[in-house]
Amino acid sequence: MKEMKEKAAAGRGQENKPGQAQDEPKGRKETGISRRLLTVENLETTFQIHKTSVYAVRGASIHVDDGDILAVVGESGSGKSVLMKSIMGLLPENAETRADCLQYMGKDLLTLSDGERNKMKGKEFAMIFQDPMTALNPLKTIGSHLTEVLRRHRGLGKKEARDEAARALKKVGIPSPESRLSQYPHEFSGGMRQRVLIAMALCCKPALLIADEPTTALDVTIQAQILELVKQLRDEEGMSIVLITHDLGIVASLSNRISVMYGGLIMEEGLTDEIFYHPKHPYTRALLHAIPQPATGVKERLEAIPGMAPSLMDLPKGCPFAQRCKYACADCEKQLPKYRQYTDTQRAMCIFTGEELDEKDWGAGRESWQAASESSRKEGIRDGR
Ligand SMILES: Nc1ncnc2c1ncn2[C@@H]1O[C@H](COP(=O)(O)OP(=O)(O)OP(=O)(O)O)[C@@H](O)[C@H]1O
Ligand code: SF4
Ligand SMILES: [Mg+2]
Repeated sequence: MKEMKEKAAAGRGQENKPGQAQDEPKGRKETGISRRLLTVENLETTFQIHKTSVYAVRGASIHVDDGDILAVVGESGSGKSVLMKSIMGLLPENAETRADCLQYMGKDLLTLSDGERNKMKGKEFAMIFQDPMTALNPLKTIGSHLTEVLRRHRGLGKKEARDEAARALKKVGIPSPESRLSQYPHEFSGGMRQRVLIAMALCCKPALLIADEPTTALDVTIQAQILELVKQLRDEEGMSIVLITHDLGIVASLSNRISVMYGGLIMEEGLTDEIFYHPKHPYTRALLHAIPQPATGVKERLEAIPGMAPSLMDLPKGCPFAQRCKYACADCEKQLPKYRQYTDTQRAMCIFTGEELDEKDWGAGRESWQAASESSRKEGIRDGR
């Protein structure tokens, strides 16, 4: 953590090589080769609502390599969960997903049968959700939650599964794991329940863990512990992680890449350093500006993003951020802006370049978000964000 903090402090402008994590995870360190686990190209998901198709995700592309911690960030309703559930095949019947490519380790997920895909879930990739209480059955013991997964996916016997379940609880930092197995979810605190869900996900040793706002329901100190655990799993188990959050602050020192979503679109993506130190999109800059900076002691007003995200039922023809963007002009509303590629790893969907936006601000806004970025990267999760 200290090393990472120092690196963040010294790292202004020193971007990592494409696909390289901030700290090299175990698997990648040993082999030196980065394996592509997940490829998603141009994924669209629509819901049928009252005989109308509404777009929840509109052409999203992401990829995850060995040891990556990819953060998917955006306001409520931006499509983060729908994107991940589309990948996992967890959407209800009124949803339809199309993509130019949706592959996990070279397997086309769109053409797999439900049975084949279900076999992969949990074993190859697993997902944990925002609310640890609703994800656990209150009538079942913690032990039966875990042993069920182990017996189904790994074919373990009763005794073996119980031993393995205790080991999994220990790995996620639950004390006295043997006795805890006989307890029910209500006997666990929120943070402990989230640890149980992570342990369940770990049982099958998936190569990819998708964590959908795993800390939202928790208080700040517990949030920090869970995020530290996520990072530890990446480092020790060599697991790749997609971390969904609406708070850019919490991923500052955790992720190596970030995708920023808005209105079902990926507005900007890049290495974490690129997003924090050289953000190009007005929405990314607005999110950075909205990160509280208690550690700096700087008494600066946080800039809320005015207005609300557009309704899926009534998406504008042009840039979906136009109604809230201080740089918007008539051209922004004519059509969806194209992606502008800045580096091998960074691109943003805005008609203006980052430099053009800087000029519009006469430098003032820039200093402010840069100070916020610097501070977030330095403090990261140390302060429990
Ligand atoms: N089952 C569904 N049927 C219809 N619309 C849905 C369904 N699930 C999600 N949506 C819509 O899709 C859009 C994207 O939702 P999603 O849950 O992905 O947002 P999110 O970015 O995860 O937000 P949050 O941060 O609040 O979790 C929202 O407008 C939501 O209302
Ligand atoms: S395209 Fe226009 S409205 Fe959209 S983010 Fe860029 S400047 Fe703002
Ligand atoms: Mg969500």
